[in-house]
Amino acid sequence: MMRTHNCGEVTEKHIDGTVELCGWVNRRRDHGGVIFIDLRDRTGIVQVVFDPDEEAAFELAEHVRNEYVLRLKGRVRHRPEGTVNLNIPTGKIEVYTTELELLNSSEPLPFQLDDDDTTESVRLRHRFLDLRREHMQKNLRLRHAIIRSLRNYLENRDFTEIETPILTRSTPEGARDYLVPSRTYPGEFFALPQSPQLFKQLLMVSGYERYYQVARCFRDEDLRADRQPEFTQLDIEMSFIDQSDIMSIMEDMIRNLFSEVQDVELPNPFPQMSWHEAMERFGSDRPDLRIPLELVDLGDVMQDVEFKVFSNPAKASNGRVAVMKVPGGNSLSRAKIDAYTEYVGLYGARGLAYVKVNQADKGREGLQSPILKFLPDDVITAILQRTAAEDGDLLFFGADSAKVVNDSLGALREKIGHDLNMLDSEWKPLWVIDFPMFEYDTKAARNVSLHHPFTSPAVTEGEIDPATALSRSYDMVMNGSEIGGGSIRIHQKDVQEKVFEALGISDEEANDKFGFLLDALKYGAPPHGGIAFGIDRIAAMMAGVNSIRDVIAFPKTQKAACLMTSSPNAVDNDQLRELNLKLRKPLVKEDTEKQESSFE
Ligand code: AMO
Ligand code: AMP
Repeated sequence: MMRTHNCGEVTEKHIDGTVELCGWVNRRRDHGGVIFIDLRDRTGIVQVVFDPDEEAAFELAEHVRNEYVLRLKGRVRHRPEGTVNLNIPTGKIEVYTTELELLNSSEPLPFQLDDDDTTESVRLRHRFLDLRREHMQKNLRLRHAIIRSLRNYLENRDFTEIETPILTRSTPEGARDYLVPSRTYPGEFFALPQSPQLFKQLLMVSGYERYYQVARCFRDEDLRADRQPEFTQLDIEMSFIDQSDIMSIMEDMIRNLFSEVQDVELPNPFPQMSWHEAMERFGSDRPDLRIPLELVDLGDVMQDVEFKVFSNPAKASNGRVAVMKVPGGNSLSRAKIDAYTEYVGLYGARGLAYVKVNQADKGREGLQSPILKFLPDDVITAILQRTAAEDGDLLFFGADSAKVVNDSLGALREKIGHDLNMLDSEWKPLWVIDFPMFEYDTKAARNVSLHHPFTSPAVTEGEIDPATALSRSYDMVMNGSEIGGGSIRIHQKDVQEKVFEALGISDEEANDKFGFLLDALKYGAPPHGGIAFGIDRIAAMMAGVNSIRDVIAFPKTQKAACLMTSSPNAVDNDQLRELNLKLRKPLVKEDTEKQESSFE
């Protein structure tokens, strides 16, 4: 072995002992004839000392710079009084070096590892160095601990991990596919899986009953802080279970995870809320329950007001008028309210009417707002009653299509919650259930699945009414983030065909795309269902970082590029010819674009 101990593990109990260590020079200080080096390995940092009395080692140490790789032998001793550092486990000792070997040198780094202001593009370009930072080491180990806990849980319950193909057919999770040209079938393509959805269902038909996989998924969609083009799911499927079975096992797994890894006890059971209620009260299907703000409907009382901004959406079938009370919000400045008005504009809102509540018991006289003159007394009374407004509160109004009101007030709710430090506890899990089966895609002029086309409708007998049908799906939400989603699947061929019909997918198209699944459903498919968790999101949340990039070793930028390997990249003509591909346009060299510096 090259070493007897790890740097971070040398403590007072080794005093007077001899240790052999390996590591990187974290920092080197020259103190009038004595050289101090903080030596770093994966376990931490230890201070090593070079004294001129140990001539050979000292001379070598004089040439050592940051990030050089060393191997040394020395004696453990107490640090002199006044130099003890109680913040690190090795802070009471130092190693008096007697032998030093230089394992490797290092050029000066392109950025200081401890400089938190380094831009993310510089860090990503040199990710192998960025990953040396303590913060990143901690994050990736946490990620590992999370996956280990989840795996152990499933292993102890007779789940089998089964790998499914990466080169496959397109699976319809709603995003764009990444395509891979086939050399052996000119003009044809594989798709990288958006999830193992169809394969895990087939494995249920095959009789595995309890499947899981730590699965890489690929989606070519617009990226955000919580989305990457390739990401990792904990993918799960079970047979002979109903919705409540799988939900209770899965929340137990997540409770166990938080208890083991985060030392946090989550509620048992998790609260559940219908999709409809979540939209009504929070304007979102993944509400952050830590924020004590709610939307209240005013559609019924605004029907006949003369203020068209309110009465039109109140009367429209797809419209919504809602109010959100911000306790104590009366003190928000005009500038702040203007900023919020601009903010909701990003979500399509055409304005943000507000009412300041000075003295609630005085009715109209106690209020202050440019819109009061448009509202009759009974409406004002209803608003004050429904919101239970008190002196000092502020009321924000949204009136538009339900989508715009939900998106904008839902986002405003989160923003104000954070701005005004309203978050009332650290972890708030929630199951959102009873989703609509379909939503109408106005662009495509047809119904699309809210989850995916294999999700079972709540009622499988009779006709399916796309406008009202609910599904047996469930999303697990934590602190406003969707960390997992799943459903009971369709296991009967006729039900699957009805759903395809409601989606406007013809028999021919269905057979072409999912013929293998329809086929499998003919041969004794058991009732089954499952879920997939976003490992990256869970890890980011537990690490307390804003972006999932911080818990992925080699992530892509927001423009889906890898700055370190400079991919994607042009390939040579021979490769293209072999794949029978010809590019339509000459390639623009996009190198400069990959140096992007803006990240969400
Ligand atoms: P869904 O599409 O909801 O379901 O994905 C499951 C979970 O994966 C995470 N996730 C992502 N994480 C990072 N980057 C992305 N681009 C990204 N997209 C999704 C989310 C999400 O909750 N096959 C179904 C699951 C099932 O029905 O069993 C599926 O993929 O945390
Ligand atoms: P206006 O009559 O357009 O000056 O609007 C009066 C108030 O209503 C302003 O405070 C606007 O911000 C607000 N407002 C306008 N349109 C909407 C809307 N669609 N939803 C909520 N508030 C609105």
